[in-house]
Amino acid sequence: MKISKTTEHTECTENTSEKIINYKISLCSLWLIVFFGLILSSAITANATPYHDLEKNRQPCSDCHTQHYSEGGGTPPGVEAGGPFAELLIRATTNKLCLFCHDGSDPKAPDVLGPVTMYDGSGDEHSGAGFFSNSGGVSAEQGHDLGVTSVSVPFSSMTNMTLTCASCHDPHGTINYRNVLSSPAGGAGLTVEMAKDVFRDAPPGDPPSATASVSAYKESNEGYKANTSLWCTECHDGLKPSVNNPVNRVHHLIDVPVNGGGYPTDPAHWAAGTGPGFGAATGDLTEGVPRLRFQASTATDYISSKVVASGNEVICTSCHLAHGGRYKKGLVWPYLEPDSPIDANSGCNQCHNF
Ligand code: HEC
Ligand code: HEC
Ligand code: HEC
Ligand code: HEC
Ligand code: HEC
Ligand code: HEC
Repeated sequence: MKISKTTEHTECTENTSEKIINYKISLCSLWLIVFFGLILSSAITANATPYHDLEKNRQPCSDCHTQHYSEGGGTPPGVEAGGPFAELLIRATTNKLCLFCHDGSDPKAPDVLGPVTMYDGSGDEHSGAGFFSNSGGVSAEQGHDLGVTSVSVPFSSMTNMTLTCASCHDPHGTINYRNVLSSPAGGAGLTVEMAKDVFRDAPPGDPPSATASVSAYKESNEGYKANTSLWCTECHDGLKPSVNNPVNRVHHLIDVPVNGGGYPTDPAHWAAGTGPGFGAATGDLTEGVPRLRFQASTATDYISSKVVASGNEVICTSCHLAHGGRYKKGLVWPYLEPDSPIDANSGCNQCHNF
């Protein structure tokens, strides 16, 4: 788009002949109409640019940064008192900055702080990543903790880690799904894109609206093709396939198909989607939970990534939510909750049918 814009501009200004100038002008306006029409239609159809993608100028720097922490000798409007803050941010910490919009107060921004209500009535219980239990500083059992120093990180060689939103996301945008960092733990990272657009069905419009954000970010609006689990093992390096494998098991395997030969699974049961483990809601006192997420490594688009088949693969996010959720260890269903035994085995049973 950038290239064609420059071309158009040159064509429209480098014209010096008086005689044809009127004709050229109308040709130019026609081109401009076509050009802006194209921009408009690409913005409202598929493949909308990821939000916070600054290269495409989708968000002003001033949403998050201030240039001088002073206005008429006082605190600038809209900026937290007590600054200036590190990296000229308008709030004291990165978590506070992101949660200023992502705590449910801005209906266009996906709510990632529990309790979450924005997806009520959408058919889903929460977004794809789920939600954090608190805005930071308090350790919780239900998934990732923000702003807490974790001396030991499970299944990881890393220690003394303190998570912020920027541990996993680049606030300035990346080529990856959900702007996740290619190297959350430093080093080479995942040198390929974490995902293609199979991860999205209906991106929110531009500018976003509250209803469009709900339908874009809800949990069921996702298809997985590759690298989601490997991305988690950047930090949880003790679960990399070179370490966690059939010969040296430390956790459930990932990226393996349900119908792999000799596996203790029931591929037909998984494909059928009825019976033990399958249900309409989590925690409704009836056995069964909605179908867990899976990976379709042969998918070519969003539709094919959602096709249920006995060759679907298990991924970290079949069982865990990336941020966290209602249940211990950020699990999708109450596997470790003594007070809701009815659904405890539901997730496992979708594939294993015991
Ligand atoms: C000024 C409000 C605001 C602030 C501050 C903000 N966001 Fe957002 N964010 C939004 C809105 C609104 C959307 C959804 C819009 C859309 O997708 O078109 C969004 C979308 C996102 C997405 C999904 C992007 C995608 O395309 O998949 C991520 C990830 C995200 N924000 C992370 C962050 C992080 C991390 C921070 C802090 C560094 C942050 N946001 C700060 C308003 C904000
Ligand atoms: C959605 C919020 C958001 C927006 C919009 C934003 N930034 Fe940032 N920026 C941050 C955060 C958060 C950090 C600190 C990252 C961290 O905690 O590691 C940062 C850090 C920086 C840094 C320090 C170096 C780095 O990359 O960590 C620079 C320079 C910067 N931003 C420039 C800009 C410019 C220029 C713009 C506009 C074109 C912009 N930012 C827009 C949130 C934002
Ligand atoms: C930037 C590094 C990083 C990445 C990437 C990361 N984690 Fe973690 N994870 C941590 C740290 C640090 C802890 C320990 C502290 C805590 O609970 O937040 C942790 C803890 C956990 C826990 C235990 C939570 C609890 O309640 O005890 C689970 C489960 C988990 N991670 C799963 C995942 C999954 C799944 C992914 C990929 C979607 C992932 N992690 C990606 C750093 C990371
Ligand atoms: C441990 C890594 C990690 C941390 C920390 C993290 N995120 Fe995420 N986030 C992810 C991943 C992975 C996804 C995509 C999950 C999926 O769709 O399965 C995601 C998705 C999102 C989305 C898209 C909507 C959704 O919920 O699915 C938003 C918005 C977002 N994150 C904002 C934030 C904000 C704001 C913070 C800090 C308060 C934060 N994230 C901290 C890993 C992280
Ligand atoms: C088939 C389901 C399943 C898959 C797939 C899975 N996990 Fe887990 N995970 C669990 C369950 C259940 C627990 C809690 C109880 C247990 O460890 O048996 C757990 C616990 C954890 C813990 C916490 C361990 C502790 O000591 O607190 C971390 C971290 C974790 N998983 C990360 C991951 C990552 C990263 C992946 C992908 C590489 C992954 N898991 C794949 C089901 C799964
Ligand atoms: C999305 C499908 C899926 C889900 C959900 C799932 N599994 Fe599995 N499970 C598999 C596949 C595929 C294998 C075969 C690969 C392997 O050997 O690990 C497997 C293998 C196993 C094995 C055999 C390990 C061995 O040494 O042979 C155990 C035990 C197991 N799963 C337990 C669980 C438990 C417990 C849960 C629920 C917390 C669960 N699984 C959820 C797909 C799944």
